Amino acid sequence: MKEVERIIRVDHAGELGAISIYSAQRKMACFFYKDIVDKLDEMLAHEKEHFNTFSAWLKVVSRIRGMNSTESLLTKVTALSTLDDYKHRA
Ligand SMILES: [Fe+2]
Repeated sequence: MKEVERIIRVDHAGELGAISIYSAQRKMACFFYKDIVDKLDEMLAHEKEHFNTFSAWLKVVSRIRGMNSTESLLTKVTALSTLDDYKHRA
């Protein structure tokens, strides 16, 4: 689980970087390339969705890691089913 969490954290950071890049590109496009602002808004929205997905995954993984070893596998699998709940709250 630790390796999975590490991979998700890297992906999460990558999505945050993508949000920063598209945000900066959008600001410049407002001055110099107005014709691509709508497309950049669309791409920025996608990156925010990806970021929220990885945020939700991190919450689920953190929740599973917080469970002690006496918790059943079924309890841990059930925690995964809450992913959509976290995603919509992110
Ligand atoms: Fe992405």
